[in-house]
Amino acid sequence: MFKINENFLKMPKSYLFADIARRVNEFQAAHPERSIIRLGIGDVTKPLAPEVIKSLHNAVDEMGVAETFQGYGPDGGYDFLRNLIAEHDYHSRGVDIAADEIFVSDGAKSDCGNIGDIFGTDNVVAVCDPVYPVYVDTNAMAGRAGTYSNDKWDNIVYMPCTLENGFSPELPKEHADLIYLCYPNNPTGASITYEGLKKWVDFAIEQGSVILYDSAYEAFITEDIPHSIFEIEGAKSCAIEFRSFSKTAGFTGTRCGYTVVPKELKCGEVSLNSLWLRRQSTKFNGTPYIVQRAAAAVYTPEGQRQIKGTIAYYLNNAKLIREGLISAGFENVFGGINAPYIWLKTPNKLTSWEFFDKLLNEVGVVGTPGSGFGPSGEHYFRLTAFGSTENTKEAIARIIRNA
Ligand code: MLT
Repeated sequence: MFKINENFLKMPKSYLFADIARRVNEFQAAHPERSIIRLGIGDVTKPLAPEVIKSLHNAVDEMGVAETFQGYGPDGGYDFLRNLIAEHDYHSRGVDIAADEIFVSDGAKSDCGNIGDIFGTDNVVAVCDPVYPVYVDTNAMAGRAGTYSNDKWDNIVYMPCTLENGFSPELPKEHADLIYLCYPNNPTGASITYEGLKKWVDFAIEQGSVILYDSAYEAFITEDIPHSIFEIEGAKSCAIEFRSFSKTAGFTGTRCGYTVVPKELKCGEVSLNSLWLRRQSTKFNGTPYIVQRAAAAVYTPEGQRQIKGTIAYYLNNAKLIREGLISAGFENVFGGINAPYIWLKTPNKLTSWEFFDKLLNEVGVVGTPGSGFGPSGEHYFRLTAFGSTENTKEAIARIIRNA
C-alpha cells in the first residue's frame, strides 16, 4: 500500500484564510440580505495600473506572432525583469545584488514555502508569534515542526511579539537554524529599524543560521527604515529575501514575485544560490512571459507613479481605520504606518474568534482573528487596508456605531 506524507495528518484541518472564507460564506448563505465588508485576507481591490495593462496587452500580442512568440523562459526569469529588479530595488538603495541572484517566481507565498526544499528536515525553525501561517504550515508539512498541541508545534521556536516588547521579538535563547522574519510585519504592521535588523544579522552570523526575510510589504514603508535586509552589512552571507508584486502592484491574481539568494550565502562549500537554481529549474517552469512583461512595466516612470498612487490610497485607508478605531475608544491600535495591516487589541477581553463573530454578526465586517496567526495573537485582531475607501469608511462607521 502506498504511504502518504503523515506530517499532513498532524496539522490543523484547514489553512487560516480558507477557514475564514468558509465561515463568511456560510454566514452570507444564511443571511443573504446582509451586506458584508471583507477586511480579512490581505487581497488588493484596486485594478492593475494602466502601464501594467498596456505591457500585458503588448506581450499577449507578441505571443501571437511567430517572431516574438516565447516558449519556456530562462531559469530564474527573463533578464529584462531581473535587471530592472536589481537596478530599482537594490542598486538604487546602494545594495549590490546581481541579476543572477534574483529568481523570478509566481509569488512570495510559494517561495516562502518551497525554500524549505533546500534545507535539511532536521533544522530548527524559529518564527515570530503571531506569524504569517505559511512559514509554520510548510515546515510542518516537511516534518520540521514536531507535534501540534495547544496551538503550538513542539519543535518550532516561537518568538513572542507582544504589547510589552512593541511587537519586536527578542533574539531566541534556543539555537535556531532557520529564522523567519517579516518586515514590515504581517500581521502586526510593526516595522524594524536598521539597528534592530543589524542585531538579527549579527546573531545569524554568530549562530550559523539563515534568516528567511519576507519583505512583501516594503512598498508601504513611509519612514526611514530598511526596505531590504541586504541594506545591512553581512546580510548577504546569512539571508534570503522574498519580495512580491502582489501588494506592491496589485498582482495577487496575476502572480509574480521574486527571491534573492546571494552567492555569498553558503553552507560550508555549498552555494545556496546553486541549490535554489537546481530546485527551481527542476520543479518550476517559470512565471509566464506576459506576466514578467507586466511586472517590468512597474519600473517605468509612469508605472512607478501609478503604483505609488495606489499604495497611497491603501495607506490612507489604513489611516482611516487607525483613527476611526481610536475615536471609537479602542485603546490599543497598531500598524498601518509602514504596512497595510492594522493590529488591534479586542475590547472587553474577547477572544480573537469571539470578536470575529461579533463583528460579522453585528455589523457585517470581516477581519482576521489574531489567534489564527499564533498563540500570542490571542485577544488581537487584524484589519486590512486593501478594501475600497468607500467600504473602509462604511466598515469603520459600523464599528464606531456598535462600539
Ligand atoms: C494575508 O492576508 O496575510 C495575506 O494576504 C496572505 C498572503 O499574502 O498570502
